[in-house]
Amino acid sequence: MKIPGAFRVAFAVVAVALGAVQAADAAPKRKPLSSYDPQVKELLSRMTLEEKIGQMTQVDHTAVKDLADVENYFLGAMLSAGGSDPQEGNSLQAWTDLYDRFQQRTRKTRLGIPILYGIDAVHGHNNVLGAVIFPHNIGLGCARSRALAEKTARITAEEMRATGIQWAFAPCVTVPQDIRWGRTYEGFSEDPEIVKVLGEAQVRGLQGSDLRNPLAVLACAKHYAGDGGTTWGSTRRGVGLDQGDTRVDEETLRRIHLPGYVTAIRAGVGSIMPSYSSWNGVKCSASKRLLTEILKQELGFEGFLVSDFNAIDMLSRDYKAAVEMSINAGMDMGMTSRRYREFFTSLKALVEEGKVPMSRIDDAVTRILRVKFAMRLMEKGRSQLADRSLHRSFGSAQHRQVAREAVRQSLVLLKNEGRTLPISKRVARIHVAGKSADDIGNQCGGWTIDWHGRSGEVTTGGTTILSAIKKAVSKNTQVTYSKDGTDAAGATIGIVVIGETSYAEGRGDRADLALAKEDVEAVANMKQAGIPVVVILISGRPMIVNQVLDQADAFLAAWLPGTEGQGVADVLFGDYKPTGRLSFSWPRSMAEIESKHATLFKVGYGLRY
Ligand code: BGC
Repeated sequence: MKIPGAFRVAFAVVAVALGAVQAADAAPKRKPLSSYDPQVKELLSRMTLEEKIGQMTQVDHTAVKDLADVENYFLGAMLSAGGSDPQEGNSLQAWTDLYDRFQQRTRKTRLGIPILYGIDAVHGHNNVLGAVIFPHNIGLGCARSRALAEKTARITAEEMRATGIQWAFAPCVTVPQDIRWGRTYEGFSEDPEIVKVLGEAQVRGLQGSDLRNPLAVLACAKHYAGDGGTTWGSTRRGVGLDQGDTRVDEETLRRIHLPGYVTAIRAGVGSIMPSYSSWNGVKCSASKRLLTEILKQELGFEGFLVSDFNAIDMLSRDYKAAVEMSINAGMDMGMTSRRYREFFTSLKALVEEGKVPMSRIDDAVTRILRVKFAMRLMEKGRSQLADRSLHRSFGSAQHRQVAREAVRQSLVLLKNEGRTLPISKRVARIHVAGKSADDIGNQCGGWTIDWHGRSGEVTTGGTTILSAIKKAVSKNTQVTYSKDGTDAAGATIGIVVIGETSYAEGRGDRADLALAKEDVEAVANMKQAGIPVVVILISGRPMIVNQVLDQADAFLAAWLPGTEGQGVADVLFGDYKPTGRLSFSWPRSMAEIESKHATLFKVGYGLRY
C-alpha cells in the first residue's frame, strides 16, 4: 500500500493527539482481499457480461418489480434504504424473512452467487424493533474510546446477523466542519484525528478480525470524500449543506477529510461509498481523481465502491451518460432503486459500444467477488440464510448493558455550579420536565426505525431518561413530572431535558440552531421554583444555548444517546463520573459558526466531579 508521507506522520501522532483514546496498536495481520484473486479469476472467466453487470447492480427491495428479477438480472446486492421496511412491518421476524426471501432466490441463478444485503446500521441495527440503539457517533466521539467504538460495532454486527443482513453502510467517517449540517451527529468529530481512530475501530468491530467470522459483517466507510466540508448554499436547491460542494484544495481535502479512509483501509474495510457531494464542482461519484487515482491506486483500496442511493442519477439528465461517467470514474456497484433495469441495460449497452471497457467491468466484479469470497458467501453447501438462533440474543440485556456504558461515557458535563451534580438518590423530591424527558424517539434521533426517526414511544423499546431517574432513586424519593416545567415548587432539585427532535439527511440542515421556545420556557418555569436546575440537552450537535446555560446550575450534553436512558441516570446520581470531552467546538452564536470560530467551549472541554 502506498501511503503518502503526510499520512505516515499522521499515523505516528494518533495516540498523542487523542489523549484518552487508547493508543492505536499495531494493525493485526489479516488476509488481504486480493489474496482471493485466484478463485475470483476462475469464476470471472465463467461469467457472461450479463452476470457480471448483475453483480454490479444493487437494488432497494421496495423497488423490485418482480422477485424473478433476482435471477433475470443476476442481482449482486440488495438493500433497504432509509424507510424501506418489510411490508409486514419492522419486527425481527419480518426483517429476517425479507432477507431470506431474496437470498433464497439467488439459488435459482445459473452461478448461484449469493447477494450482499446492505442496510444503514449506523447506531445499532436501528431499523429493527427491539434492537439495541447505541449513541450516534457524535456521542462516541466524546467518549473517545477506541475499545467502546469497537465493542458497540461488534454488537451491531451480531444483531444484524440475526436478520441475515451482512453489510452495514457504516462507519460514517465524515468530518463535519459546519454544525448547521443535519448529518453532523453521524460524524465522530470535527477533528480528523478523532475520526480516524474511531472509524478504524468501528471497521474492526463490524468486520471482526476477519470477514470469515459468521458474526462479522461487511463495513462501508462513507461518504467519500469531503461530505462534511460543503459550503452553505452550494446545494442543488441553493440552501443548506447536504449534498453540496466542498471547496477546498487537495492539501486540505487530504488533511481533513481523507485520514478516516486511510485508517479504514488499514483496518481492511471492504467497501466505501462515494459521496453525493462534489469536490470543487465535480461530483465525487464521477471523480476519477478521487475514486481511481487516490483511493484505489494511491491508497491501495482493494474492496469495492458502491454509489450512494441513486447518486448516479444525479450526474446527468441522460441516465446512460451518467452511468458511463460514474463507472469509468471507478464506481464498482450502482445503488439503485426504480431504475435498476435501466442501470443494467445501459451498462450492458455501454460495454457493447466500447464506451466502458471490459477491463473496467472485470475490475469492478473482481472487487465485489473478492469480498464475497472473503465472507464465505461462495462456499458450496454453506447456508447463506439467516442464523435464527441469534434471535435469542437480539436486543439482549447484555447488549443493552454495553449501550448503557456507551451512554455514560458519551455525556459531556459543561457546567456544574456549586456541585449540583451528582444528585443524591435520597433527596425528597425531584421534579423532571422538558419535551425529551420521556421520549425514546427524541433520545434516539434520526436513523431509528424511520429514516428521519420519530418522536415518542412508538419508535422502539428502551428506557427514557424519566423512567431511568425513577428506577435509580431511593424508594422514599418522589419523582414528579410536568412537560413545561411548572409545578416544580417544593422539589429539592429540577431536571429539564430539552433539545432537538429527530431528523436525518437534508431535513436536518438548519440555518438557526437556537433552542425551541418551549425548551427555553421549560427551563425558565423550573427556575422560577427557586430550586437548583440541571439541564440535559438531547441534540445532534452543539446548539445556541447561552440563556439556558446561564440559568442552569448544571448542564449536560447528552447528544443522541439511544435506547439506554439509564446511562444518563448513572452519571446524574454519581454511580459513574462524567468522562466525556467535546468532539466539536461549541459556538456562542450563529455568527461564530459562519466565521468558523466557536468560542464557548473548545474541543476537549468537559468537567469532572
Ligand atoms: C445516504 C447514505 C445511506 C444510503 C442508503 C443515502 O441517502 O446518504 O448514507 O447509506 O442513503 O440508505
